[in-house]
Amino acid sequence: MEKFVISGGNKLYGKLTANSAKNSILPLIAASIICEGVTEIENCPKIKDVIIMCEILRKIGGKAEFSGDKLILDTTDVFSWELPTDLTGEIRASLFIVGALLSRFGYALMQFPGGCKIGERPVDIHIDGLRCMGATVTCSDELVFNGKNLKSQTVTLRFPSVGATENLIMSAVKLKGKTVIKNCAKEPEIVDLQNYLNMRGAKISGAGKDVIEIEGVDKLSSKKVSFTPSIDRIEVGTLLLSASAVGGELEFDGEMVKNSYSLMKIFENNACKIYNNNGNIYNIEFKRRSLGFGKVVTGPYPDFPTDLQPQLVACACAHTGLTAVEEKVFPERFSYTEQLQLMGANIDLYKNLCLVEGGNLHGESVVAGDLRGGASLVIAGLVADGETQVKNVGHIDRGYYKLEEKLTRLGAKIRRERY
Ligand code: UD1
Repeated sequence: MEKFVISGGNKLYGKLTANSAKNSILPLIAASIICEGVTEIENCPKIKDVIIMCEILRKIGGKAEFSGDKLILDTTDVFSWELPTDLTGEIRASLFIVGALLSRFGYALMQFPGGCKIGERPVDIHIDGLRCMGATVTCSDELVFNGKNLKSQTVTLRFPSVGATENLIMSAVKLKGKTVIKNCAKEPEIVDLQNYLNMRGAKISGAGKDVIEIEGVDKLSSKKVSFTPSIDRIEVGTLLLSASAVGGELEFDGEMVKNSYSLMKIFENNACKIYNNNGNIYNIEFKRRSLGFGKVVTGPYPDFPTDLQPQLVACACAHTGLTAVEEKVFPERFSYTEQLQLMGANIDLYKNLCLVEGGNLHGESVVAGDLRGGASLVIAGLVADGETQVKNVGHIDRGYYKLEEKLTRLGAKIRRERY
């Protein structure tokens, strides 16, 4: 096992860098299955979730290999619609392959998907949507989908689920007629999926808005496609919140934060100085001790992302003043707060509300229990007096590629060690 050893107190200075978004890459790997050809994904991090998704693809006949930071997929020889039992339980995104398999073969079979332990993660919105389009689904120990009778349809989601929206788009691209998905998710990662499939000849419109329309096409092109997904807004947010917690100044291209409106708004209201440096290059100057963040409510995009909630809470622990966070996407996503409390954080939980009164944190030995919760412990370690050890960094590696190196380049004192 590995841990991060962090000496707190160093301010962060320098240029913000980030990889393509994990949550774009995972559905893109799934979507490549529909296309029966080569797809290159640029600026792709070698993170654990991507590696597992590639392994699933290989087990059903596809090829996946890295050339530098380019991921090259070849799905020409995918032969199976049955996902490998051992791997599907490890990541939630295995579920997103179902739509692609239905599009290519008409069938899909898998165990229940895994993923971060951040509360209940049911699959009913996926199943209801597919049933509405004519699929037969049986759920016992495994999920079996028969999509031979899928028809284009209007589907209204009871909640704008990101994965369900992606699954339904992939199921619908080759159906005759027009499929309409109402109350769909609007995340930038859905826009990436639309853009990729449209490069392949699909006719999808509306991604990023409440309603997506998919005009079915007979076939997608199998010609090689090179695609650059949007920058990982959660990675960018984690680095900005790290600097906000400890202080310093970061420089970034405006493109990098174009999908981070809700976070930038919080910074604008929080005694940070954001100034245009040159063209589209900005600087953001953080003062270590400013006000708390007031009330922040997580929600589907464009609201504040649940995937930055733990990092925001850690950052709030470092600022004086009060912050109240209401978690509306995964109401139980607060298990990491116990570890922050060991470091001296003043946190109260009431149902899906988290109240933080900022103060001093001290170094401690803590354990990451999930991906973003783990990132919040790293932020706390960057601020804390003395040395912090964050154990079980495998969780953090699921979504951040060499986080310790990116932070070190910005001036943090953090190293990886075996234990
Ligand atoms: C995706 C992201 C994840 C992010 C989440 C919310 C990927 C790989 N993961 O996960 O990082 O935290 O969006 O932004 O893209 N729900 C149901 N039934 C369902 C599906 C979801 O009740 O069938 C509920 C979930 O329990 C949760 C909410 O809907 O409360 C949102 O989940 P969803 O948007 O589906 O998240 P994922 O696609 O799994």
